[in-house]
Amino acid sequence: MTMCNTHIARTSSRSRMRLQIYLRVMRLLQPVVLSLLCLTNFVFLTDAMYAQSNDADYGVFKERIQPIFLKTRSTHGRCVTCHAGGNGGGFVLQPLSPGAVTWDEEQTRKNYLEVSQLVSPGKPESSQLLMHPLAPEAGGDVFHSGGHQFSSQADPDWQALAAWVRQKGRWEYKNLKVLSSGESLLDVMRTFNLSLREECNFCHTPPDFASDARPMKNVAREMMKMTSDLNAKLGNGTVTCYTCHRGDERPKTVHPRFPNLKYPN
Ligand code: HEC
Ligand code: HEC
Ligand code: HEC
Repeated sequence: MTMCNTHIARTSSRSRMRLQIYLRVMRLLQPVVLSLLCLTNFVFLTDAMYAQSNDADYGVFKERIQPIFLKTRSTHGRCVTCHAGGNGGGFVLQPLSPGAVTWDEEQTRKNYLEVSQLVSPGKPESSQLLMHPLAPEAGGDVFHSGGHQFSSQADPDWQALAAWVRQKGRWEYKNLKVLSSGESLLDVMRTFNLSLREECNFCHTPPDFASDARPMKNVAREMMKMTSDLNAKLGNGTVTCYTCHRGDERPKTVHPRFPNLKYPN
Protein backbone atom coordinates (compact mmCIF):
# COMPACT_ATOMS: atom_id res chain seq x y z
CA MET A 1 0.00 0.00 0.00
CA THR A 2 2.75 2.46 0.93
CA MET A 3 4.46 1.80 -2.40
CA CYS A 4 1.21 2.48 -4.28
CA ASN A 5 0.63 5.75 -2.38
CA THR A 6 4.07 7.19 -3.08
CA HIS A 7 3.74 6.26 -6.70
CA ILE A 8 0.43 8.12 -7.02
CA ALA A 9 1.75 11.18 -5.17
CA ARG A 10 4.83 11.42 -7.39
CA THR A 11 3.12 11.02 -10.76
CA SER A 12 0.32 13.50 -10.02
CA SER A 13 2.36 16.43 -8.68
CA ARG A 14 2.41 18.49 -11.91
CA SER A 15 0.02 21.30 -10.91
CA ARG A 16 -1.85 21.99 -7.70
CA MET A 17 -5.17 22.31 -9.51
CA ARG A 18 -4.87 18.99 -11.27
CA LEU A 19 -3.57 17.44 -8.14
CA GLN A 20 -6.58 18.57 -6.13
CA ILE A 21 -9.10 17.24 -8.65
CA TYR A 22 -7.10 14.10 -8.97
CA LEU A 23 -6.97 13.61 -5.23
CA ARG A 24 -10.71 14.20 -4.86
CA VAL A 25 -11.46 11.58 -7.51
CA MET A 26 -8.88 9.28 -6.05
CA ARG A 27 -10.36 9.61 -2.60
CA LEU A 28 -13.70 8.44 -3.96
CA LEU A 29 -12.19 5.62 -5.95
CA GLN A 30 -9.38 4.91 -3.53
CA PRO A 31 -10.46 1.52 -2.23
CA VAL A 32 -11.09 0.13 -5.73
CA VAL A 33 -8.13 1.72 -7.51
CA LEU A 34 -5.60 0.98 -4.84
CA SER A 35 -6.54 -2.62 -4.49
CA LEU A 36 -6.43 -3.03 -8.28
CA LEU A 37 -3.04 -1.30 -8.54
CA CYS A 38 -1.58 -3.35 -5.75
CA LEU A 39 -3.05 -6.55 -7.03
CA THR A 40 -1.68 -6.13 -10.57
CA ASN A 41 1.67 -5.04 -9.14
CA PHE A 42 1.74 -8.06 -6.93
CA VAL A 43 0.93 -10.52 -9.69
CA PHE A 44 3.39 -8.83 -12.03
CA LEU A 45 6.19 -8.79 -9.46
CA THR A 46 5.91 -12.39 -8.40
CA ASP A 47 5.77 -13.59 -12.00
CA ALA A 48 8.72 -11.42 -13.01
CA MET A 49 10.73 -12.47 -10.01
CA TYR A 50 10.07 -16.07 -10.74
CA ALA A 51 11.03 -15.72 -14.41
CA GLN A 52 14.11 -13.63 -13.70
CA SER A 53 15.60 -15.50 -10.79
CA ASN A 54 14.49 -19.01 -11.55
CA ASP A 55 14.36 -19.85 -15.24
CA ALA A 56 18.07 -19.86 -16.07
CA ASP A 57 18.79 -21.20 -12.63
CA TYR A 58 16.34 -24.06 -13.12
CA GLY A 59 18.05 -24.90 -16.42
CA VAL A 60 21.44 -25.22 -14.73
CA PHE A 61 19.90 -27.29 -11.97
CA LYS A 62 18.30 -29.69 -14.43
CA GLU A 63 21.33 -30.07 -16.74
CA ARG A 64 24.25 -30.03 -14.35
CA ILE A 65 23.17 -30.37 -10.71
CA GLN A 66 20.46 -33.01 -10.66
CA PRO A 67 22.58 -35.62 -12.53
CA ILE A 68 25.05 -35.48 -9.61
CA PHE A 69 22.35 -37.03 -7.41
CA LEU A 70 22.06 -39.98 -9.80
CA LYS A 71 25.75 -40.56 -10.35
CA THR A 72 27.39 -43.77 -9.15
CA ARG A 73 30.62 -42.92 -7.34
CA SER A 74 33.34 -45.53 -7.07
CA THR A 75 33.47 -45.47 -3.27
CA HIS A 76 30.00 -44.34 -2.25
CA GLY A 77 26.31 -44.99 -2.85
CA ARG A 78 24.24 -42.70 -5.05
CA CYS A 79 22.52 -39.74 -3.34
CA VAL A 80 19.18 -40.88 -4.79
CA THR A 81 19.43 -44.29 -3.13
CA CYS A 82 19.21 -42.83 0.37
CA HIS A 83 17.66 -39.42 -0.20
CA ALA A 84 14.64 -40.28 -2.34
CA GLY A 85 11.56 -40.58 -0.18
CA GLY A 86 12.82 -38.95 3.01
CA ASN A 87 15.22 -41.18 4.94
CA GLY A 88 18.14 -38.77 4.71
CA GLY A 89 17.35 -35.93 7.10
CA GLY A 90 16.26 -32.67 5.52
CA PHE A 91 17.54 -33.53 2.02
CA VAL A 92 14.52 -35.08 0.30
CA LEU A 93 14.57 -36.07 -3.38
CA GLN A 94 11.54 -37.30 -5.30
CA PRO A 95 11.47 -41.11 -5.68
CA LEU A 96 12.17 -42.24 -9.26
CA SER A 97 9.12 -43.67 -11.05
CA PRO A 98 9.29 -47.46 -11.50
CA GLY A 99 11.71 -48.30 -14.34
CA ALA A 100 12.77 -44.64 -14.84
CA VAL A 101 16.48 -43.72 -14.87
CA THR A 102 15.88 -40.03 -14.21
CA TRP A 103 13.17 -37.64 -12.97
CA ASP A 104 10.39 -36.24 -15.17
CA GLU A 105 9.69 -32.50 -15.45
CA GLU A 106 7.29 -32.31 -12.52
CA GLN A 107 9.58 -34.30 -10.23
CA THR A 108 12.53 -32.13 -11.34
CA ARG A 109 10.58 -28.97 -10.37
CA LYS A 110 9.94 -30.42 -6.93
CA ASN A 111 13.60 -31.41 -6.50
CA TYR A 112 14.60 -27.89 -7.58
CA LEU A 113 12.38 -26.22 -4.98
CA GLU A 114 13.61 -28.53 -2.23
CA VAL A 115 17.31 -28.33 -3.06
CA SER A 116 17.20 -24.53 -3.49
CA GLN A 117 16.31 -24.25 0.20
CA LEU A 118 19.38 -26.25 1.22
CA VAL A 119 21.80 -23.73 -0.27
CA SER A 120 22.75 -20.16 0.55
CA PRO A 121 22.73 -18.08 -2.67
CA GLY A 122 26.25 -16.77 -3.34
CA LYS A 123 27.85 -18.75 -0.50
CA PRO A 124 28.83 -22.39 -1.13
CA GLU A 125 30.54 -22.75 2.26
CA SER A 126 27.30 -21.77 4.04
CA SER A 127 25.28 -24.34 2.11
CA GLN A 128 24.20 -27.52 3.85
CA LEU A 129 23.98 -29.39 0.55
CA LEU A 130 27.68 -28.78 -0.11
CA MET A 131 29.14 -28.91 3.40
CA HIS A 132 27.40 -31.95 4.84
CA PRO A 133 28.68 -34.59 2.35
CA LEU A 134 32.15 -32.94 2.14
CA ALA A 135 35.08 -34.57 3.97
CA PRO A 136 35.99 -32.82 7.26
CA GLU A 137 39.63 -32.47 6.13
CA ALA A 138 38.28 -30.35 3.28
CA GLY A 139 36.18 -28.17 5.62
CA GLY A 140 33.02 -30.29 5.63
CA ASP A 141 30.87 -31.57 8.50
CA VAL A 142 32.25 -34.32 10.68
CA PHE A 143 29.55 -36.91 10.16
CA HIS A 144 27.35 -37.85 7.18
CA SER A 145 25.69 -41.28 7.14
CA GLY A 146 26.23 -41.30 3.38
CA GLY A 147 30.00 -40.90 3.80
CA HIS A 148 32.45 -38.26 2.62
CA GLN A 149 31.06 -38.09 -0.89
CA PHE A 150 33.46 -35.31 -1.88
CA SER A 151 37.02 -35.76 -0.63
CA SER A 152 37.97 -32.21 -1.60
CA GLN A 153 36.46 -29.00 -2.87
CA ALA A 154 38.34 -29.60 -6.12
CA ASP A 155 35.99 -32.47 -6.98
CA PRO A 156 34.38 -31.42 -10.31
CA ASP A 157 30.88 -32.16 -9.00
CA TRP A 158 31.48 -30.13 -5.84
CA GLN A 159 32.79 -27.34 -8.09
CA ALA A 160 29.64 -27.54 -10.22
CA LEU A 161 27.47 -27.29 -7.10
CA ALA A 162 29.53 -24.30 -5.91
CA ALA A 163 29.23 -22.54 -9.29
CA TRP A 164 25.46 -23.07 -9.25
CA VAL A 165 25.20 -21.64 -5.73
CA ARG A 166 27.42 -18.64 -6.58
CA GLN A 167 25.22 -17.48 -9.46
CA LYS A 168 21.95 -18.15 -7.69
CA GLY A 169 19.62 -15.18 -7.08
CA ARG A 170 18.18 -14.21 -3.73
CA TRP A 171 15.59 -16.72 -2.50
CA GLU A 172 12.27 -15.40 -1.21
CA TYR A 173 11.53 -16.95 2.19
CA LYS A 174 7.88 -17.02 3.19
CA ASN A 175 7.58 -17.39 6.92
CA LEU A 176 10.27 -15.55 8.88
CA LYS A 177 8.93 -14.24 12.18
CA VAL A 178 12.11 -13.71 14.19
CA LEU A 179 14.92 -13.15 11.70
CA SER A 180 14.81 -9.69 10.15
CA SER A 181 16.11 -10.89 6.78
CA GLY A 182 16.87 -14.10 4.94
CA GLU A 183 20.36 -12.84 4.07
CA SER A 184 22.33 -15.33 6.19
CA LEU A 185 19.51 -17.79 6.80
CA LEU A 186 21.47 -20.93 5.97
CA ASP A 187 24.33 -19.87 8.26
CA VAL A 188 21.79 -19.67 11.08
CA MET A 189 20.26 -23.04 10.15
CA ARG A 190 23.66 -24.74 9.98
CA THR A 191 24.45 -23.30 13.40
CA PHE A 192 21.25 -24.90 14.71
CA ASN A 193 22.14 -28.28 13.21
CA LEU A 194 25.70 -28.19 14.49
CA SER A 195 24.88 -26.84 17.97
CA LEU A 196 22.12 -29.36 18.67
CA ARG A 197 23.71 -32.12 16.55
CA GLU A 198 20.41 -32.56 14.75
CA GLU A 199 19.17 -32.64 11.17
CA CYS A 200 17.07 -30.05 9.37
CA ASN A 201 13.94 -32.17 9.80
CA PHE A 202 14.25 -31.94 13.58
CA CYS A 203 12.39 -28.63 13.17
CA HIS A 204 11.11 -28.85 9.60
CA THR A 205 8.86 -30.97 7.39
CA PRO A 206 10.86 -30.90 4.14
CA PRO A 207 10.34 -30.03 1.36
CA ASP A 208 8.09 -27.39 2.95
CA PHE A 209 10.56 -25.45 5.09
CA ALA A 210 8.10 -22.56 5.54
CA SER A 211 5.59 -24.77 7.37
CA ASP A 212 5.28 -24.52 11.16
CA ALA A 213 3.90 -28.06 11.44
CA ARG A 214 6.68 -29.23 13.76
CA PRO A 215 6.30 -27.69 17.25
CA MET A 216 10.10 -27.81 17.62
CA LYS A 217 10.33 -24.94 15.12
CA ASN A 218 8.46 -22.66 17.49
CA VAL A 219 10.54 -23.83 20.44
CA ALA A 220 13.55 -22.76 18.37
CA ARG A 221 11.94 -19.34 17.74
CA GLU A 222 11.57 -18.85 21.52
CA MET A 223 15.20 -19.91 21.98
CA MET A 224 16.28 -17.37 19.33
CA LYS A 225 14.50 -14.58 21.22
CA MET A 226 15.95 -15.74 24.53
CA THR A 227 19.46 -15.80 23.03
CA SER A 228 19.03 -12.23 21.74
CA ASP A 229 17.76 -11.10 25.15
CA LEU A 230 20.77 -12.66 26.86
CA ASN A 231 23.11 -10.90 24.46
CA ALA A 232 21.35 -7.59 25.06
CA LYS A 233 21.65 -8.05 28.83
CA LEU A 234 25.28 -9.14 28.77
CA GLY A 235 26.11 -6.55 26.14
CA ASN A 236 28.87 -8.59 24.61
CA GLY A 237 27.06 -10.59 21.94
CA THR A 238 28.79 -13.83 22.78
CA VAL A 239 25.88 -16.12 23.63
CA THR A 240 25.00 -18.54 20.85
CA CYS A 241 22.99 -21.76 20.68
CA TYR A 242 26.28 -23.58 21.09
CA THR A 243 27.05 -21.79 24.40
CA CYS A 244 24.44 -23.98 26.10
CA HIS A 245 23.74 -26.85 23.74
CA ARG A 246 27.30 -27.98 22.85
CA GLY A 247 26.05 -30.70 20.54
CA ASP A 248 23.13 -31.79 22.74
CA GLU A 249 19.47 -31.46 21.93
CA ARG A 250 18.89 -30.81 25.64
CA PRO A 251 21.74 -29.03 27.42
CA LYS A 252 23.12 -30.63 30.56
CA THR A 253 21.70 -28.92 33.60
CA VAL A 254 22.89 -31.29 36.30
CA HIS A 255 26.55 -31.99 37.06
CA PRO A 256 27.10 -35.70 36.37
CA ARG A 257 29.21 -36.29 39.50
CA PHE A 258 27.31 -34.02 41.91
CA PRO A 259 23.68 -34.34 40.90
CA ASN A 260 22.44 -33.21 44.31
CA LEU A 261 24.04 -29.78 44.14
CA LYS A 262 21.37 -27.33 43.02
CA TYR A 263 21.18 -23.74 41.93
CA PRO A 264 18.18 -22.13 43.68
CA ASN A 265 15.09 -21.64 41.55
C1 HEC B 1 24.11 -44.43 2.24
C2 HEC B 1 23.04 -43.46 2.28
C3 HEC B 1 23.37 -42.05 1.82
C4 HEC B 1 23.97 -41.62 0.66
C5 HEC B 1 24.50 -42.45 -0.46
C6 HEC B 1 23.99 -40.17 0.72
N1 HEC B 1 23.44 -39.74 1.89
FE1 HEC B 1 23.22 -37.83 2.50
N2 HEC B 1 22.43 -38.44 4.27
C7 HEC B 1 22.11 -39.75 4.58
C8 HEC B 1 21.44 -39.78 5.88
C9 HEC B 1 20.91 -41.03 6.58
C10 HEC B 1 21.39 -38.45 6.34
C11 HEC B 1 20.82 -37.94 7.68
C12 HEC B 1 21.78 -38.22 8.81
C13 HEC B 1 23.10 -37.56 8.61
O1 HEC B 1 23.18 -36.34 8.69
O2 HEC B 1 24.07 -38.27 8.33
C14 HEC B 1 22.01 -37.64 5.30
C15 HEC B 1 22.13 -36.26 5.36
C16 HEC B 1 22.49 -35.46 4.29
C17 HEC B 1 22.41 -34.02 4.28
C18 HEC B 1 22.00 -33.14 5.47
C19 HEC B 1 20.51 -33.05 5.65
C20 HEC B 1 20.19 -32.49 7.02
O3 HEC B 1 19.07 -32.70 7.48
O4 HEC B 1 21.05 -31.86 7.64
C21 HEC B 1 22.84 -33.60 3.06
C22 HEC B 1 22.93 -32.17 2.57
C23 HEC B 1 23.19 -34.78 2.30
N3 HEC B 1 22.97 -35.89 3.09
C24 HEC B 1 23.68 -34.74 1.01
C25 HEC B 1 24.02 -35.87 0.28
C26 HEC B 1 24.52 -35.84 -1.08
C27 HEC B 1 24.73 -34.56 -1.89
C28 HEC B 1 24.76 -37.14 -1.45
C29 HEC B 1 25.30 -37.63 -2.75
C30 HEC B 1 26.47 -36.93 -3.28
C31 HEC B 1 24.39 -37.98 -0.32
N4 HEC B 1 23.95 -37.18 0.71
C32 HEC B 1 24.49 -39.35 -0.29
C33 HEC B 1 22.38 -40.85 3.82
C34 HEC B 1 23.03 -40.85 2.59
C1 HEC C 1 16.38 -26.11 15.86
C2 HEC C 1 15.38 -25.91 14.83
C3 HEC C 1 15.81 -25.75 13.38
C4 HEC C 1 16.70 -26.51 12.66
C5 HEC C 1 17.52 -27.71 13.13
C6 HEC C 1 16.69 -25.98 11.32
N1 HEC C 1 15.83 -24.95 11.22
FE1 HEC C 1 15.32 -23.91 9.54
N2 HEC C 1 14.13 -22.68 10.61
C7 HEC C 1 13.93 -22.77 11.98
C8 HEC C 1 13.12 -21.64 12.41
C9 HEC C 1 12.71 -21.32 13.83
C10 HEC C 1 12.83 -20.88 11.25
C11 HEC C 1 12.01 -19.61 11.17
C12 HEC C 1 12.85 -18.43 11.59
C13 HEC C 1 12.00 -17.17 11.75
O1 HEC C 1 10.80 -17.28 12.02
O2 HEC C 1 12.57 -16.07 11.62
C14 HEC C 1 13.47 -21.58 10.13
C15 HEC C 1 13.38 -21.19 8.81
C16 HEC C 1 13.94 -21.87 7.73
C17 HEC C 1 13.73 -21.55 6.33
C18 HEC C 1 12.87 -20.45 5.77
C19 HEC C 1 11.59 -21.03 5.22
C20 HEC C 1 10.63 -19.96 4.75
O3 HEC C 1 10.36 -19.90 3.52
O4 HEC C 1 10.15 -19.20 5.60
C21 HEC C 1 14.48 -22.44 5.59
C22 HEC C 1 14.61 -22.51 4.08
C23 HEC C 1 15.14 -23.30 6.54
N3 HEC C 1 14.79 -22.95 7.82
C24 HEC C 1 16.00 -24.32 6.17
C25 HEC C 1 16.67 -25.13 7.08
C26 HEC C 1 17.68 -26.08 6.71
C27 HEC C 1 18.15 -26.34 5.28
C28 HEC C 1 18.10 -26.67 7.85
C29 HEC C 1 19.21 -27.68 8.02
C30 HEC C 1 20.51 -27.24 7.58
C31 HEC C 1 17.34 -26.09 8.95
N4 HEC C 1 16.49 -25.15 8.44
C32 HEC C 1 17.48 -26.46 10.28
C33 HEC C 1 14.38 -23.76 12.82
C34 HEC C 1 15.28 -24.75 12.47
C1 HEC D 1 21.15 -20.12 27.92
C2 HEC D 1 21.19 -21.48 27.46
C3 HEC D 1 20.53 -21.77 26.11
C4 HEC D 1 20.75 -21.15 24.92
C5 HEC D 1 21.63 -19.97 24.61
C6 HEC D 1 19.95 -21.88 23.95
N1 HEC D 1 19.28 -22.89 24.55
FE1 HEC D 1 17.98 -24.18 23.66
N2 HEC D 1 17.61 -25.05 25.44
C7 HEC D 1 18.20 -24.71 26.63
C8 HEC D 1 17.70 -25.57 27.69
C9 HEC D 1 18.12 -25.54 29.16
C10 HEC D 1 16.77 -26.44 27.08
C11 HEC D 1 15.98 -27.55 27.73
C12 HEC D 1 14.67 -26.98 28.19
C13 HEC D 1 13.85 -28.05 28.84
O1 HEC D 1 14.33 -29.09 29.19
O2 HEC D 1 12.63 -27.78 28.95
C14 HEC D 1 16.73 -26.08 25.69
C15 HEC D 1 15.94 -26.71 24.74
C16 HEC D 1 15.95 -26.42 23.38
C17 HEC D 1 15.12 -27.08 22.41
C18 HEC D 1 14.10 -28.17 22.71
C19 HEC D 1 14.77 -29.53 22.66
C20 HEC D 1 13.83 -30.64 23.03
O3 HEC D 1 14.17 -31.79 22.74
O4 HEC D 1 12.77 -30.37 23.60
C21 HEC D 1 15.41 -26.54 21.20
C22 HEC D 1 14.81 -26.91 19.85
C23 HEC D 1 16.41 -25.52 21.42
N3 HEC D 1 16.71 -25.47 22.76
C24 HEC D 1 16.97 -24.75 20.43
C25 HEC D 1 17.86 -23.71 20.66
C26 HEC D 1 18.37 -22.85 19.63
C27 HEC D 1 18.03 -22.96 18.15
C28 HEC D 1 19.19 -21.96 20.24
C29 HEC D 1 19.95 -20.79 19.63
C30 HEC D 1 19.11 -19.80 18.96
C31 HEC D 1 19.19 -22.26 21.66
N4 HEC D 1 18.38 -23.34 21.88
C32 HEC D 1 19.90 -21.55 22.61
C33 HEC D 1 19.15 -23.73 26.83
C34 HEC D 1 19.61 -22.87 25.87
